[in-house]
Amino acid sequence: MPRVVRRERLVPNIHLLEIEAPEIARRCRPGQFVIVMPDARGERIPLTIADWDRERGTVTSVFMAVGTTTRKLALLGAGDTVPIFAGPLGRPSEIASVGTVLCAGGCFGIAAIHPLARAFKEAGNRVVALVDVKADYLLYWRDRLEAVSDELVVSSRDGLYGGTEFVPGHVRGILARERIDRIVAVGCTYFMSSVAEASRPAGVRTMVSLNPIMVDGTGMCGACRVTVDGRTRFACVDGPDFDGHLVDWAELYARRKSYFEDEVRSLCAWEEERFP
Ligand SMILES: Cc1cc2nc3c(=O)[nH]c(=O)nc-3n(C[C@H](O)[C@H](O)[C@H](O)COP(=O)(O)OP(=O)(O)OC[C@H]3O[C@@H](n4cnc5c(N)ncnc54)[C@H](O)[C@@H]3O)c2cc1C
Ligand code: FES
Repeated sequence: MPRVVRRERLVPNIHLLEIEAPEIARRCRPGQFVIVMPDARGERIPLTIADWDRERGTVTSVFMAVGTTTRKLALLGAGDTVPIFAGPLGRPSEIASVGTVLCAGGCFGIAAIHPLARAFKEAGNRVVALVDVKADYLLYWRDRLEAVSDELVVSSRDGLYGGTEFVPGHVRGILARERIDRIVAVGCTYFMSSVAEASRPAGVRTMVSLNPIMVDGTGMCGACRVTVDGRTRFACVDGPDFDGHLVDWAELYARRKSYFEDEVRSLCAWEEERFP
């Protein structure tokens, strides 16, 4: 069974998980994801691949502990095993030499934009990284993003980075200041839809990595159905990247809430079992 090499809390609520998975490490590309199951009784959840080491044969994801499964993952330690770690899944992101690329990331997306920024940089682009945190102590991987971008802009509500502007304001400011040829945004649904709305008037192609509920991750169950440009698409096999200006965000928000009560019940049951 796939073995945990490292599980580390990066900042409160956000954890890094490095798993031994040589086949995935050998084949994965920026923008793809894995499906992981923390224990034999658990559910399978998708996590974006934030980094990989082909020589050591490991794959790294960064996740936010929001419900039962991510809390279970947050309890894993080096040497533990997971019953399922499948991938790489999804289509790799479109990487090309386009000019200047703005890579925007919020919560787990701060890590998820790292391989994208690196790949766009390697393809000869100027890369501006924009990360969104509520406060300075929630910022992680600053050094790693600085290493793969030409400029790092931090949007932080505590004013420690020269203002309290929200991400849409930063996107509009960067678009007003210089020509941006492509935007990629990864994070929670609200974050990505906000970035897409901010860039819509300028018409800059804005790719978002959609995060609908997924079950099999291979196009068979239909759980990850989204509507893009009026067409039904399955995020696991047709995405997860789509043009944010064409996504039916209202439908995505509604479908993500489908199991809200069950998710809360599951978390309460797990907490009662673990902390009697
Ligand atoms: C292709 C893809 C890639 C993904 N990559 C990552 C990743 O790299 N890291 C990561 O942390 N998550 C990622 N997600 C989301 C992740 O799969 C979910 O957070 C996870 O399934 C939650 O499972 P859970 O049982 O812990 O919580 P659940 O019980 O399923 O959810 C608990 C509550 O948290 C809410 N919630 C779920 N995700 C988030 C979020 N990101 N922000 C705020 N609230 C949320 C839910 O709506 C629900 O109300 C990805 C999703 C997809 C489809
Ligand atoms: S997760 Fe089942 S079709 Fe995409």
